[in-house]
Amino acid sequence: MTTRHPELSRKPVIAANWKMYKNPKQAKEFITAFLPLVHGHNRDEIVLCPPFVDLAVAVEATHGSNVHIGGQNMHWQEEGAFTGEISAAMLAAVGCTYVILGHSERRQFFGETDESVNRKLQAALHAKLTPIFCVGELLAEREANKTEEVLVRQTARGLANIAPESARRIVVAYEPVWAIGTGRTATPEMAAEAHLVIRSQVASSLGREIAEGMRILYGGSVKPENATSLLNQPEIDGALVGGASLDPQSFAKIVQYTSR
Ligand code: 13P
Repeated sequence: MTTRHPELSRKPVIAANWKMYKNPKQAKEFITAFLPLVHGHNRDEIVLCPPFVDLAVAVEATHGSNVHIGGQNMHWQEEGAFTGEISAAMLAAVGCTYVILGHSERRQFFGETDESVNRKLQAALHAKLTPIFCVGELLAEREANKTEEVLVRQTARGLANIAPESARRIVVAYEPVWAIGTGRTATPEMAAEAHLVIRSQVASSLGREIAEGMRILYGGSVKPENATSLLNQPEIDGALVGGASLDPQSFAKIVQYTSR
């Protein structure tokens, strides 16, 4: 396999966000079908983020493979009286190496704020997890020409008070909210433009060198049919996939997007 960005050391990440789909049995069935389809694929990092109850099964079923497992959320405290919550240390203990933070569905339906995302990012880094930090504008914000302002604010607040050394592990996912689950995808050019805004804010927050090395993924209606054109944009360092990641064949096709 060829490296997509030989000039940069940004290994693409192709991550599945299963949201609230699949029980442990279904997760195991998916992985049994999926692993042979991506066997030996090392050009990209492959990550599956199933619901919490599937994590132990998923870690066991992917053991020794090229597929990593992540959570979809966590609390920022290590432990405590927080009914219904899971900590970063618990995700790490079960064998997760990634965690999605600040997804727009958590911001929209569960009161997640830039401040809580920032606390979670710090806790995830402390637990040596790789956070996939999500940002993205609403349709109304894009239509009001506020995309740049929103991305700068979410990125700056999310990355506040994070030590540059530990920040190297952070992966950012740009997910325009209007493109999630709607079949409407940002054009590769729109996504690349948003990624440049994010990368420039990462440079202001954490320094140029860290910004150059940071993987910025695109998410929002990524499918086998559009994966290649999106992922061939030099600014797009991978994908965070919802609906099309629920079927092993479809997700494997996205992982195998054609490189330029
Ligand atoms: P869809 O791929 O279903 O649009 O979801 C995107 C997403 O929210 C991934 O986190």
